[in-house]
Amino acid sequence: MAAAERCLQRLRTDYIDLFLYNLARRGIELDLLPWCGAHGVVPMAYSPLEQGRLDWGGALGEAATAVGATPRQVALAWTLRLPRIVSVVKSANEDHVQENSAALSLRLPDPVLGLLDRAYPAPNAPVPLESL
Ligand SMILES: NC(=O)c1ccc[n+]([C@@H]2O[C@H](COP(=O)([O-])OP(=O)(O)OC[C@H]3O[C@@H](n4cnc5c(N)ncnc54)[C@H](OP(=O)(O)O)[C@@H]3O)[C@@H](O)[C@H]2O)c1
Repeated sequence: MAAAERCLQRLRTDYIDLFLYNLARRGIELDLLPWCGAHGVVPMAYSPLEQGRLDWGGALGEAATAVGATPRQVALAWTLRLPRIVSVVKSANEDHVQENSAALSLRLPDPVLGLLDRAYPAPNAPVPLESL
């Protein structure tokens, strides 16, 4: 409970809500994320690695090479690129936890964000809320 309280204080909010959000699931960007911003709700992105099923080569591999990180770090940093968002990744592997935590300080430059946008386009029409 104390950790949860600290989290809420740091984020300056009383409200956090969980949404499925990762490169392959961008549906909430069109209306839900703006609504959260307007109403003081901090979104928590769950399954930010799409439960491990993202394509770790391709655009993610290219982006990872460009920023000197791993594809999974790029996928996590991408969910954290927004100003007020939490990303909840699961791992039972200590090496993976270390790898994932380094994504907290990874900033993706605009050309890399553009590369990812082309491979994983943002929605241009409403999308039903997805879940896993
Ligand atoms: N509220 C909801 O409706 C809801 C729904 C779904 C999930 N969630 C929560 O969201 C959290 C995360 O979601 P998730 O578990 O569905 O998916 P996820 O975090 O996207 O993916 C987890 C998978 O990725 C692997 N992984 C993590 N880091 C890795 C790394 N650095 N290298 C290689 N593999 C890596 C994990 O395996 P290893 O253990 O081997 O690292 C695991 O198989 C969970 O705590 C879950 O409870 C909430």
